[in-house]
Amino acid sequence: MKSLTPAVAAIALFSLPACQSVDEKAPPVSQLETDDPERCEQGRYVYTTVCADCHGVKPVRARTITEWRGEILPRMSQKARLSPELEATVLAYIRAAIESPAPPKP
Ligand code: HEC
Repeated sequence: MKSLTPAVAAIALFSLPACQSVDEKAPPVSQLETDDPERCEQGRYVYTTVCADCHGVKPVRARTITEWRGEILPRMSQKARLSPELEATVLAYIRAAIESPAPPKP
């Protein structure tokens, strides 16, 4: 039994990112600096529902805005069949989430 402990600890350690809450992965609009909170709210809604349908909520801040805009979002918008308008709305949320200061770690 004793030899199991390091394995269990390792598993616990590597599962940590999976324990991030939805609010940590996709910060609520109330925490963001934006001059268009309504649009961001709509973007976050799509991000946490339509986009999350396939693979759960991805951590927004794990990618740079350049990666999101240049590659990931166009590819994923196609998968999600978003209109160009909705894609822009999701991007508005992603941009606000990345550019706002991250909340302090608990
Ligand atoms: C039809 C299913 C589907 C939908 C809808 C979908 N995705 Fe994905 N997504 C995938 C699959 C499959 C992968 C992994 C393979 C890949 O990267 O293409 C992925 C990968 C990703 C990644 C990791 C990419 C990387 O390069 O690290 C991100 C971030 C992501 N999706 C975000 C989104 C966002 C945002 C939306 C909504 C606009 C979305 N996804 C909608 C299927 C989907």
